[in-house]
Amino acid sequence: MKDEICRYNQIDPAIEARIDGLLSQMTLDEKVGQLVQMSPHAPIDPEEMMKRIKEAQEAGQPPQRVYHPRPGLDDMIRAGRVGSILNLPDVHWINHYQQLAVRESRLGIPLIVGADVIHGLRTVFPIPLAESCTWDPPLLERAARVAAEEASACGIDWTFAPMVDIARDPRWGRIAEGAGEDTTLGMAMARARVRGFQAGDLASGRRVAACPKHYVAYGAAQAGRDYHTVDISERTLREVYLPPFKAAFDAGAGSVMSSFNEIGGVPATANAFTLRTVLRDEWQWPGMVLSDYDAVKELIPHGIAADLKDAARLGILAGLDMEMASEAYTTHLAALVREGAVPESVVDEAVRRVLRLKLQLGLFEHPYTDEALADQILLRDDFRALALQVACESIVLLKNEGGLLPLSPGEGRIAVIGPLADARHDLLGCWASNGRAEDVESVLDGMAVYLGSSDRLAHVSGCPVKDEGPADIPAAVAAAHEADVVVLVVGESANMSGEARSRSHLGLPGRQQELLDAIAQTDKPIVGVLVTGRPLVIPRMAGQVDALLVAWHGGIRAGRAVADLLFGAAVPSGKLTASWPRTEGQIPVYYAQKSTGRPMEGAGTTQFFEPFKSRYIDEPNDPLFSFGYGLSYTTFDYSDLEVHTPLVDANGTLVVSARVANTGPRAGTEVVQLYVRDLVASVTRPVKELKGFQRVTLQAGEAQTVRFELPADQLGFPGLDMRRVVEPGAFQVWVGPDSAAGLEGHFEVQ
Ligand code: BGC
Repeated sequence: MKDEICRYNQIDPAIEARIDGLLSQMTLDEKVGQLVQMSPHAPIDPEEMMKRIKEAQEAGQPPQRVYHPRPGLDDMIRAGRVGSILNLPDVHWINHYQQLAVRESRLGIPLIVGADVIHGLRTVFPIPLAESCTWDPPLLERAARVAAEEASACGIDWTFAPMVDIARDPRWGRIAEGAGEDTTLGMAMARARVRGFQAGDLASGRRVAACPKHYVAYGAAQAGRDYHTVDISERTLREVYLPPFKAAFDAGAGSVMSSFNEIGGVPATANAFTLRTVLRDEWQWPGMVLSDYDAVKELIPHGIAADLKDAARLGILAGLDMEMASEAYTTHLAALVREGAVPESVVDEAVRRVLRLKLQLGLFEHPYTDEALADQILLRDDFRALALQVACESIVLLKNEGGLLPLSPGEGRIAVIGPLADARHDLLGCWASNGRAEDVESVLDGMAVYLGSSDRLAHVSGCPVKDEGPADIPAAVAAAHEADVVVLVVGESANMSGEARSRSHLGLPGRQQELLDAIAQTDKPIVGVLVTGRPLVIPRMAGQVDALLVAWHGGIRAGRAVADLLFGAAVPSGKLTASWPRTEGQIPVYYAQKSTGRPMEGAGTTQFFEPFKSRYIDEPNDPLFSFGYGLSYTTFDYSDLEVHTPLVDANGTLVVSARVANTGPRAGTEVVQLYVRDLVASVTRPVKELKGFQRVTLQAGEAQTVRFELPADQLGFPGLDMRRVVEPGAFQVWVGPDSAAGLEGHFEVQ
């Protein structure tokens, strides 16, 4: 296999010439056809759909994917009226449609086949939020490469990923799909994932294009309610939400999906500022913009389009190239051009971008997929091994009182309690429709690897995840009494996070807290294992358990990864990438906040009455667990911070180092983090900003000097005129284990 990281963000004169040739032959209807991404599925009656979903859920399976072809689709493709289809998990049918496009349409332009391959296809990796807790971009690049390998073996050319939305509100279910709250980390993850997805096997011609989404500021939905209004300043947009997209483009992404939300009164689907001014005028990016599902039609309920035709006009004029699903373009765009409401040159530009991506992907040369390929590629052993590594690195240890963990596999009786202890489907998390429950190792399966069918292992679920179904808390308590230690596996089911899964209460759902309360009465040591798609609000639980692991929705190998950590075959190294609030009332709570004019010193405790400070009277300001936080089975000591460049030139490089020593009993990996604060600037700056991180593996007793070199332009920000500026002045700098701790130094930019 000959891999190369392909870039779809470039202009190649030879390709442009081919596009000119095609455009000159295309009728207006054929041009519009290239801008249409059509769902290939027969429209299904919502009642029937709910019935199928329910049946599948009851069987513990993802919804049955029996394919019902959309009536009339064959003819539309033959007529050149379709440029793309999406989410068709069947290579045979994909080849069928591709043949219609290539052999039976007048110009033979291939389709581009898109799909949501978000954290693996059949080899399901941890949800992206979990993956980001590895702080390991090279590892995630490899994971994305596996996803692309499997996707292209199934005929998929284009993945609607990575999701690069910054998310600071855990009520929002889609926080599961991204890299958390931080822009610098989000940029690193965006780059890694784009590179991984776009690492093409050039020998076979199998390639996948990334489609970063959702452009833009989708994660800033008010109140954490999905699709809700976004109203943020241009400064925050430029500083927090846009950079991960820019990073994805710079890594070679040649398409982007616009978001459902409005931004300051103009829906992203028809937002000329974000779609034209930023993408085209400022960034000179030649890629293609795809709408989100039905989002063009949704300009009507947004209240800026009178009807579907108006919606088509607004979308295309704003710079939206391809429409997903809702059929405003296919129905009205040609008429709009004929009537003079939309210049044909605008359509030509959009078509050019679509054809550019298709040509760059090599679809004209390799339109079909070998139907025997999937069997050879899906779920390969090396893919499964990588999924285990990612799952292990993504798990975060939040508490380990008295060194309860790791457990010794050779002694004591263990009661495994909780509704998620034997869960399989739920470990897959959101956006895993090609994943299969039978591929998943549950936590119990993982523990059985260490304990066999030993009578030292008892299992009682105690209660369901949510309020439905029977509970038997007394049986769980009885099992706890019999045991020396309890492993309590609780949290959210897969369908509680992801799209349209906002929650306003972020505690343990259903009766799970009641179950924990009962177990806690037994005074047995408790290891909590949280299976979740988002940060939860668990101050009570955090106090009740002795040790706490966040296992997320960790994919097919999650159960094994949990067991490897529980029994010490692996050592936790994950660190949180989104803050865990103490209470929903603190949301949004994130480390890179601004100071305000009345800052509360420290965490903001309620013990001292300090009036007229920016604080709550009933809770501290800081979260329960901060961004960057995570423990190990060993301990790390930070010392000898050195600022090698106390005066940094604005075009120079900041150099900082610190000594990190493993002072504990065993080898471990620490994510060493670099933060800065710009003390005085023309606009207010966050109290801390992550600027670098390194994963460092140290043997017991070993120490290493960790050195950061940061180009000073990365200290810049959008100035008063919104242009990026690096201002002279004093900075604080920290090197430490998380956003709330670290050695502090100073430097000055001149
Ligand atoms: C989601 C996108 C997804 C698309 C296609 C939409 O509802 O917002 O993230 O890519 O559907 O499945």
